[in-house]
Formats: sequence, C-alpha cells, structure tokens
Amino acid sequence: MTRTAFLGMGHYVPPKVVTNDDLAKMFDTSDEWIQQRTGIKERHYIEKDGIGASDLAVPAVQMACKNAGVDVAEIDAIIFATLSPDYNFPGSGVLLGDKLGLPGVPALDVRNQCSGFLYGLQVADAWIKCGMYKRVALVGAEVHSTGIDFTDEGRDVTVLFGDGAACALLGPTDDETVGVVDVEIHADGSGAQELWLEAPASKYMPRLTHEMIDDRRVWPAMNGRQVFRWATAKMPEVSRSVLERNGVATADLDLVVPHQANKRINEFVGEKLEIPADKVVHNIQRYGNTTAASIPLALSEAIQEGRAKKGDLILMPAFGSGFTWGAALVRL
Ligand code: UT7
Repeated sequence: MTRTAFLGMGHYVPPKVVTNDDLAKMFDTSDEWIQQRTGIKERHYIEKDGIGASDLAVPAVQMACKNAGVDVAEIDAIIFATLSPDYNFPGSGVLLGDKLGLPGVPALDVRNQCSGFLYGLQVADAWIKCGMYKRVALVGAEVHSTGIDFTDEGRDVTVLFGDGAACALLGPTDDETVGVVDVEIHADGSGAQELWLEAPASKYMPRLTHEMIDDRRVWPAMNGRQVFRWATAKMPEVSRSVLERNGVATADLDLVVPHQANKRINEFVGEKLEIPADKVVHNIQRYGNTTAASIPLALSEAIQEGRAKKGDLILMPAFGSGFTWGAALVRL
C-alpha cells in the first residue's frame, strides 16, 4: 500500500532578531517575565514592510525541494497553512504558486491556526494515498509582526509570536516502514473567542470602523489561562489516542516535535506522557510561536542538526485557536 513520505524539509526565518529586551523598550514587559512564563528569548520579524507569508514560504519550499532532490517544477499541489495570509483574499497558496512559477498547480489554503500543519498533513496524506498528487508542498508560514499590538494592552499576546515559514515536501512511497502513520485532528468552536482576531469581520457592516480600532478589536485577543488549560489537557489526550490506535508505546518514540506555543506547556505534555525531556524538541527560545510554521520549522531544524534521523518515529501534537488540536505520528 502507498504511504506518504517526508521527501524533504525546509525552513526560513527573516533575518531581523527581536529580543525580549527590545520589546521591553516598547511596552511594559521584561525579559525575566517572558522567559519564566514562556521560555522565549527572541523571535524573528520581517525586516521591512511588504513581505508577506507567501514571500517567507518561497525559500522554505526551495530548501525542502533541494533536500528532497526534487525540482520545484515537479510540485503538483500546494497546501498553505496560515492565520496571517498576505491578503484577506485570495489565499497565500496561489501567491506562492505564482512566485514559484507553478501556473495551474492547485493551491489550498488551510485556516486552522496552530494546528494548521496537522490539518494540511491529513489532507496531503489522503491525496497522496489515493494517487491524486505526487509532490505536495505542505507549507506553514506566518507574518505575525504586522498584526500584533505593541502597547501595554497587547503585551500578553505580542511577546509570544514570531514570523517564519517551513515546508514539508510530501510524496508517495511503497516502503510501508516509513512515512505518515496516522494523523488525528479535532475542533471545538465553543472556544473560538478565547483566542481570536475579531475585526475586520464580514458579519459587520462596515467590516471595519474607527471604533473597532479604538476599542482594540483589530488585534489578537487571548484568554491565556484558559488556552493553557485546554492545551495541557488536549495535547496529551490526542497524543495517547493516536499512539494507542497504532499500538505504539511512548517508549517507542524517538522524538516529540510539538507545536511551539509555550515551553512550559510542552514540558508539561512531555511529563504527562512520561517522555524523557531530551526527546522533546524546543526551539521556541529562538523563534517564539510561529503558529502554522512551528511544527515543520522545529522538525526541519531537528533534521538539519542531525537530531531527527531517517527511520525515527516522531509524534507531533498541537493545540491552538479554534479551538483546534491534533497529533501526527510519522516515521521519517
Ligand atoms: O499557540 C496558540 C496557543 N497559545 C497558547 O498556548 C498560550 C497559552 N497561554 C500561555 O502560555 C500563558 O497563559 C501566557 C504565557 C500567555 C501568560 O502566562 P500566565 O501565567 O497565564 O499569566 P497571566 O495571563 O495570568 O498574567 C499574569 C500577570 C498579569 O498581571 P497581574 O494581573 O497578576 O498583575 C498580567 O497582566 O502577568 C501580566 N502579564 C505580563 N507581564 C509582563 C501579562 N503579559 C505580560 C507581559 N509582560 N508580556
């Protein structure tokens, strides 16, 4: 039976580094608070106006193709996961296809925030298994820095996020010992307003008003404690579910590459699953939360550093806005 293999991974972050101390010059926060509560030391921001999520994705896709030994022209489908698309419409996937010189190649945008990579992976896996496409570029990319509130009111959210992109180039293999083993995804919209960006919104006429701007409804808002509670319950739950369904014990795992929302959340998830701390990958210290890009960015780096190797069994859990959550089990 055909399986979906990770042919190559790639990532890109813009060169501008913003430290916690840099943020503390703009609003009331401190390096100590941010590191203690989240583990974040610095994040990357686009260096100038006019760089969108699709721009960050271009070098990430090129790197994934290079690592796979596949020409960019061979990509026959794009899946683009982001909560910060270049424009309201059309989606960033079509912009990426154009920038890569892929006219006619279908491009699907996925709007599932921190779980976007897992949602995209389940779709790509189904497409590839049924023979629909052979070279799927699954991208997660975000430009958060143009959409966060650099004042005291927005500090809880603003310190968390960073810009970045990553790509998994996926394709079929007959080798049943490698590739995507399983992906489980969930959603519960009753938590939609616990972490959201309300305006501009098509349900209001007009979609954007001066009052909305004055009332700060144009910035992301989060009930941090509630999201923390859900994340630390749902990530272990879905991880156990996917492991049990596939007869895998936590001791069989070589690595856990979780969504990078908060180092404390991921340490807690590791402890709850009884996974040794050195098997849990963290790179949030350097990038903050890059949302849809965070899992593929962490995986791509782990491969580059030789920490994730061919044949490794890897668990990738995520939780985020929606609420959405899930876990993937993959043999590299
Ligand atoms: O990827 C999407 C999913 N997102 C997440 O998973 C995030 C989940 N939530 C969290 O990671 C945590 O809730 C945060 C890191 C966001 C916040 O940590 P917390 O321990 O839950 O802090 P808190 O929101 O309860 O705030 C504690 C205090 C408050 O002050 P008072 O009321 O105790 O005086 C906040 O005003 O910390 C204050 N605070 C800050 N202080 C300095 C909030 N943000 C900041 C800040 N700098 N940036």
